[in-house]
Amino acid sequence: MSSEHHSPDVRTVLQVGPLKPSLALTLSENHGAYVLPDEPAARQEFLSTHGGDVTAVVTSGRSGVDAALMRALPRLGAIVNFGVGYDTTDVDAAAELGIGVSNTPDVLTDCVADTAVGLMIDVMRQFSAADRYVRAGSWPASGNYPLTRQVSNTRVGVIGLGRIGGAIAKRLSAFGCSISYHNRREVEGSPYPYVDSAVTLAAGVDVLVVAAAGGTGTRKLVDGAVIDALGADGYLINIARGSVVDEDALVEALTAGRLAGAGLDVFADEPNVPEALLSLDNVVLLPHVGSGTVETRAAMEQLTLRNLEEFLHSGRLVTPVLEPGVRV
Ligand code: 8YV
Repeated sequence: MSSEHHSPDVRTVLQVGPLKPSLALTLSENHGAYVLPDEPAARQEFLSTHGGDVTAVVTSGRSGVDAALMRALPRLGAIVNFGVGYDTTDVDAAAELGIGVSNTPDVLTDCVADTAVGLMIDVMRQFSAADRYVRAGSWPASGNYPLTRQVSNTRVGVIGLGRIGGAIAKRLSAFGCSISYHNRREVEGSPYPYVDSAVTLAAGVDVLVVAAAGGTGTRKLVDGAVIDALGADGYLINIARGSVVDEDALVEALTAGRLAGAGLDVFADEPNVPEALLSLDNVVLLPHVGSGTVETRAAMEQLTLRNLEEFLHSGRLVTPVLEPGVRV
């Protein structure tokens, strides 16, 4: 890394991918931010003309920054990510290049945990399906809706007992659920029993909630064997990343009746949802809205701007995943 890599007199901000409109406006008005063109030829031309000026990128989990883009921005010192998940950014490449990465932890924990609990209640009690039943005029025509499954007092396994997983566990404890979890490593001081494999966890619970970070380390952690261990009476909830679950295996199990149901806020290839799921009433499908409230998105926006402004001011980040200038 050259000493001018983080040169304080170069202050050029680049927006990569779509962002919340008010955030994009602030970046443009207060920081004169460029927006990286999508179209390949225009992008290439932009990078040859301006790539050398960019010191900070603001992006989101939907876009991220890959190694090739980092290399096309030789003065890049920080990638400021709107969102807690940063699996679309190549953090190993960033570490090699001395580029810092920040995310927006904590501020979205409550809303994402609320979403997990909402999905669990919806899929087990079939509220969305029952709502469709009422709207279709089926209540007077066909009578009472079939009985569903109780949420309170069930056995819940959490995959990934981080901030969000912990907040989900806390909420479901108040529902009388018994909680156990699987994690990369046991969480010290956790009141919940640790299970050392995802399959064993799934075999002992009624509901499996996926709250692990995405990325190569968790890719298809919930595979066909885990889904089969959860079994025909089991439910899967995913508010993490589609990549953590083997989506083909999930669709197969759901369509074959080898899993009772699933509540999904995330998918392997967003915004595309497997066609086979659209006709199933034992599945609740959300368009990645876990953090999507006015309050939480405003807090995420503020934290994103704080990270950017701190970096531009001091070369540091407020909530770093990787400190700027750190080499591995
Ligand atoms: C955001 C998320 O919607 O924070 C995350 O990791 O998945 C969501 O809160 C997303 O990152 C915004 O692009």
